[in-house]
Amino acid sequence: MTVTLETPNTSYLFQATVDKTGSQVVGGKGVRVDIERDGVVHKNILDAITGAAVGALGWGDEEVYDIINKAARESTYSYPCLISNKSAEELSKFYIEHSPKGVFESALWTTSGSESNENALRIIRQYYLERGLPKKLKLISREDSYHGFTLGAMAISNNPRITAYKDYFMDQKNICLTMPSAYTYRNKLKGETEEDYSKRLLKTIEEQIITEDPDTIAAIIVETLPGSSLGTTPPPKGYLKGIRDLCNKYDIIFYLDEVMCGTGRSNPNGKLNCWENFLAPEDGPDIQTVGKTLGSGYVTIAGILIGPKIKEAYVKGSGTIVGGHTYSSHAFNCAVALGIQQKIAKENLTANVFKMGNLMGEKLKQALLSEDNIAGDVRGIGGFWSVELVSNRDTKEVFDPSLGIANRIKEQCFQNGLNVMAMGTTPTKSCSDRILLAPSFIITEADVDEIVEKLVKSVTELSKQLKEEGVF
Ligand SMILES: Cc1ncc(COP(=O)(O)O)c(C=O)c1O
Repeated sequence: MTVTLETPNTSYLFQATVDKTGSQVVGGKGVRVDIERDGVVHKNILDAITGAAVGALGWGDEEVYDIINKAARESTYSYPCLISNKSAEELSKFYIEHSPKGVFESALWTTSGSESNENALRIIRQYYLERGLPKKLKLISREDSYHGFTLGAMAISNNPRITAYKDYFMDQKNICLTMPSAYTYRNKLKGETEEDYSKRLLKTIEEQIITEDPDTIAAIIVETLPGSSLGTTPPPKGYLKGIRDLCNKYDIIFYLDEVMCGTGRSNPNGKLNCWENFLAPEDGPDIQTVGKTLGSGYVTIAGILIGPKIKEAYVKGSGTIVGGHTYSSHAFNCAVALGIQQKIAKENLTANVFKMGNLMGEKLKQALLSEDNIAGDVRGIGGFWSVELVSNRDTKEVFDPSLGIANRIKEQCFQNGLNVMAMGTTPTKSCSDRILLAPSFIITEADVDEIVEKLVKSVTELSKQLKEEGVF
């Protein structure tokens, strides 16, 4: 259904399209959103991406309004460096207790994933200083990675969104180093098993550690399931465990970024962390950043989870952190996030999205890859999936960035009543245009069928157009 409004098309807001308002969300209920564009309200769009993999509980949840109301009445602001609060303590306890025993011992709450990664870098720096190892400075992250939109988080990222700002970064030659991405669909060689591919990647990482001098390496940073950067490509078998072992061997911090894939989106045990798909508890990370579904879009909250090794160095060392952010561990945000996470746990919604998401992925694989269209690969875990689009399925040829396939498929989906995210072919052509899907944890089988039906229709329609244009 659409409703036409009289709205000006100029914007007072300095983001996205600077001189135009663009699309605006004007309502939402459950798995559906109302989006206004050019004076027209498009109602009941099926939301298959929940912002950017944010909305765990769906929109307009009445129980969350009660949680918010109670939190507003009971929370008093205090400056966290001077006076802490009980909600922040309780949220930390909840996250730690809903993670495998012994992996995390402490947490810090921030207001965004980028801020979490900034703080993780700072925490790692102080960790080595506490241990008297000031030379341990270098950070190794991956090609085609995304860790945020602040300068520190950008410096450990590698993607087209950061290129313009490189001159302001931490030194990307001597401090922020890059290792290869783990991208099975394109980079696993013919005849190589997944395990062989992992071994090859791990050999490269170990050689890099040795060449750089292990005594100078501080951390290895990996998105457990890369989101927008590479389209939910799961790590090949043995890869994360291999990195864990290298970190143990060379005294390096194993740092996972689960801002987009974590906090229940892709957990196989009805709990929180994505890495539990691949690692035993004793191989968990030393530090982990989270965000997105933590507040489910109702509050701006993200965080850093800290393992016993790091905590111990602080406790045995100075025992203090000097400085902080005004809104760290904000009592109201923490109280709301805790209420939301308790509701998700009580209603078993992590288990639901894991099951429904995997069903969605399987149905998409069957429907898309059995027909002649631009879908090259369908991949993901639980509530986080991607479809990579290619101009030739056999050769996996990427679409030229100038064709703007990402924007076109997003628009096609929108016209068919489906909200998705789509990212364009990378400038290096390392990864082709891809559609991202991250529905809310409350989706039903009927919602899954509707997402699949609308997505397949959109891909089929665009494939036909591209065939007529001679580019597919
Ligand atoms: C893996 C990852 N890390 C960090 C961030 C940054 O989070 P935020 O946008 O909340 O700053 C994102 C955002 O998409 C992300 O996907």
